[in-house]
Amino acid sequence: MKLTQLETPALVADEKALTGNMDAMSSLLEGSSLKLRPHYKSNKCARIAAMQMERGAVGITCAKLSEAEDLCDSGIEDILIANQIADPSKMLKAALLAGKCRLTVCVDSASNARLLSKAASAAGTTIHCYVEYDIGMRRCGVSTEEEFLELAKLTDSLPGLDFSGIQAYAGHVRHMAGSAERERETRANEAKLLSLKARLEEAGLSVGAISGGSTGTAVLKASGGVYTELQAGSYIFLDSTYGELESLPFRNSLYVLATVISVRPGLAILDAGVKAIGMDQELPVILGMDGERVDGRIAVNEEHLKLFDPSRELAEGETVMIIPGHCCSTVNLYDRIYLFDGERVSGRLEVSARGCSR
Ligand SMILES: Cc1ncc(COP(=O)(O)O)c(C=O)c1O
Repeated sequence: MKLTQLETPALVADEKALTGNMDAMSSLLEGSSLKLRPHYKSNKCARIAAMQMERGAVGITCAKLSEAEDLCDSGIEDILIANQIADPSKMLKAALLAGKCRLTVCVDSASNARLLSKAASAAGTTIHCYVEYDIGMRRCGVSTEEEFLELAKLTDSLPGLDFSGIQAYAGHVRHMAGSAERERETRANEAKLLSLKARLEEAGLSVGAISGGSTGTAVLKASGGVYTELQAGSYIFLDSTYGELESLPFRNSLYVLATVISVRPGLAILDAGVKAIGMDQELPVILGMDGERVDGRIAVNEEHLKLFDPSRELAEGETVMIIPGHCCSTVNLYDRIYLFDGERVSGRLEVSARGCSR
C-alpha cells in the first residue's frame, strides 16, 4: 500500500532513517566507555526497545512504573526508572517487578529511600538505586555533595536497596542552540560529577554508573569520558526542536501524515491539531510529499492546523508530512506507528506503552 493511502492523521516513520539513526548512535559510542541506556518515553514501542538492545544497549530507561512493567513484560531485563516513586502502593509494585528484572529507581530523599526499602524487604527483592544529583535542571535531585554522600550511604545500608550509581540528567542543556554553549555547560557538569565520584569513593562507596544525557549532548558525553550511561531517547526520530540544533549525527524519521481538508484564500487547513501533534515544544514543520518545506504562519487548534499564506499552493485532498515539535509527546497520541520505505508502507509498530503515564 502507498504511504499516501493511509487514513490521516497517521504517525509514520521512515524505516531507513529510523534504523540509520540507531546505527549512527552505535557508531558514535563504538570504542567509548559510554553505554547506551535509551529512554523509552520517546517511542513507547516494545519492538523499538528490542531493536535498541539488539544493537548493544545495556538496558532501557523509562520515566514511569507502568512503562517499566510494559518493558519487563516484553522481555527487557535491565530497566531504569529515571524518576522517584513516592506512592507506597506503587513502591510495592516496583518491589515485585524487581523480582522479574534488574530494576533501578532514582531516590533523592531519606524518607523515600526508607519507604522503598520497606517495600523491597516485604517483597524479598532488591531494588537498585541511583541517587539523583541536581546538576542545574532544578527538577528532582539533591544539590550538594554532602547531601548526596549521606543519602548514598543510607541507601547502601538499607535492606532491600543497593546504591548503584548517580543519576545526573542535565535537561536544561539538551536544547541549547549553540554547540559551544552546550559543550561549556556539559564539561562544567562533568567536573562536578568527578568531584562527587571522588568523594563517594573516598567514603568507600563504589559508583556503579553515572547516568544521564540526551540526544542533544550525546556527542559531548561520548567524548567526555565521565558519564557511563547515555539516556538519549529522541535520537531515533528527532523533531523540529532538535532540528534547530546544528551538528547532530541523526536525521528526522518521524512525521505526522496529514491531509489538506480545506483551502481558502491565503489559508490551508490540515486535519491534524493538538490531538495529533505534540505541541509542548516548538511549532511543527510542514513538508510536501516531495520533502520540500511549506512555510507559512501556523496556528494549531484541537483538530485543525491552520497554515496562513503557505509558501506554495496546497490542494484540497493533498497529503503533507508534518515534523512534530516534540517527538515524545506526539508518539503518546497514537496506538501505532506506520513504517514506510520510499512511497510504500513497509510495516507497523504497536505503541505498546501508549498512555502509560503512571
Ligand atoms: C531523565 C531523562 N533522561 C534523558 C532524556 C533525554 O531525552 P532526549 O534524548 O529525548 O532529549 C530525558 C528527556 O526528557 C529525561 O527526562
